[in-house]
Amino acid sequence: GVVISNLLKETGLVTLDSGFMNTATTTSQITYIDGDEGILRYRGYPIDQLAAGSSFLEVAYLLIYGELPDASALEQFTTRVTRHRLLHEDFKSFFTAFPANGHPMAILQSGIAGLATYYQHTLDPKDPEQLELATVLLLAKVPTMIAYIAKRALGLPLLYPDSSRGYVEDFLRLTFHLPYQDKSVDPVLTKALDMLLILHADHEQNCSTSTVRMVGSSHANIYASIAAGVGALSGPLHGGANEAVLSMLDAIKAGGGDASDFMRRVKDKEDGVRLMGFGHRVYKNYDPRAAIVKDAAHEVLTQLGSSDELLDIAMGLEDIALHDDYFIERKLYPNVDFYTGLIYKAMGFPTQMFTPLFAMGRLPGWIAQYREMIADPTTKIGRPRQVYTGEGERDFVALDQR
Ligand code: ACO
Repeated sequence: GVVISNLLKETGLVTLDSGFMNTATTTSQITYIDGDEGILRYRGYPIDQLAAGSSFLEVAYLLIYGELPDASALEQFTTRVTRHRLLHEDFKSFFTAFPANGHPMAILQSGIAGLATYYQHTLDPKDPEQLELATVLLLAKVPTMIAYIAKRALGLPLLYPDSSRGYVEDFLRLTFHLPYQDKSVDPVLTKALDMLLILHADHEQNCSTSTVRMVGSSHANIYASIAAGVGALSGPLHGGANEAVLSMLDAIKAGGGDASDFMRRVKDKEDGVRLMGFGHRVYKNYDPRAAIVKDAAHEVLTQLGSSDELLDIAMGLEDIALHDDYFIERKLYPNVDFYTGLIYKAMGFPTQMFTPLFAMGRLPGWIAQYREMIADPTTKIGRPRQVYTGEGERDFVALDQR
């Protein structure tokens, strides 16, 4: 017979909540979401106000330290981050050690874990100075790593960061291989990418963030914990969705651009096909980030002078979905990733780089959540229980008697 009573015997109470639909794993002061109303706030500030008025590093500071920096605090923070953007020379060979067509998320995950080998004096999460330095090193080096991964895929040499430039501007220069003196990083791109990074910067206990906390709850160092978060983010139901949206739009375009046939397949659940970039565990209303990205997609594409058939297909899909009972009944609306890929594509990023860009944006959130978890004296190692549904006790049978 099936044995399910061990947990009940031990505790008198069993909660089985697959996917954590109703289980809070922590208290947190970082991000507030009201999924029914479509509200998202970082440390109390509405996401639309931050997207319109602040910069990514300012938001990183807010998430990590809890308050908006004044001008001098922001300048000091920016200086500390930008001066650490170089990677150790030995580390560069790391990027050529993988097949050039290997997925950037796999390389990024290993690279972040590997930072622990270069910065061994920053591994103790219980030492505030070490954790502070690790925070700065991660914010500084992860964009350089992402740029190098992009360059390596193209076989281009790796440029050195230029600390006289802005964080996002220089990331674009490194990625797109603009020479050192070149001042031509398009400010439209810099501003749009900065804003997209802000929108991705935190989203409370999503799959990757919960992973970071879970791994960190064993007091694993912050690099190991965030590398695990990168692994979680790579899945197509999470951060990989932005890449999946583009593949989906490309396939619809290649099939003649007929959105209605694709939507029929989605509604019939044919081969499990889903409308990627739609639906969210928490938002049962329009994702507030999606509304901002949709406007930005129009703006960026117009400013870059690139008309995009894929944007038209995307808007066609959204239009069908917003008026279709299947989507209305299930409260499925566009999420942040429905339109982001179109902007990244217009900027010139290859599709495989979309999810690493999500990781670059989510980094301050992961750091802030790891730090909050470590600082909380009530944190225990994460150790869920299970409801066992396997065999009851039975006697071992020797190999020659099976
Ligand atoms: N297309 C078609 N149907 C969908 C979709 C979709 N994108 N999303 C959910 N549904 C349907 C499900 O089939 C299910 O239908 P049923 O009641 O007939 O069985 C119902 O809506 C509920 O879906 P669940 O999968 O139970 O919802 P859950 O909260 O577990 O999943 C998720 C949320 C994973 C985001 C889901 O909506 C999805 O797969 N979306 C597509 C992938 C995506 O865009 N992911 C990005 C998420 S946001 C982020 O990470 C930034």
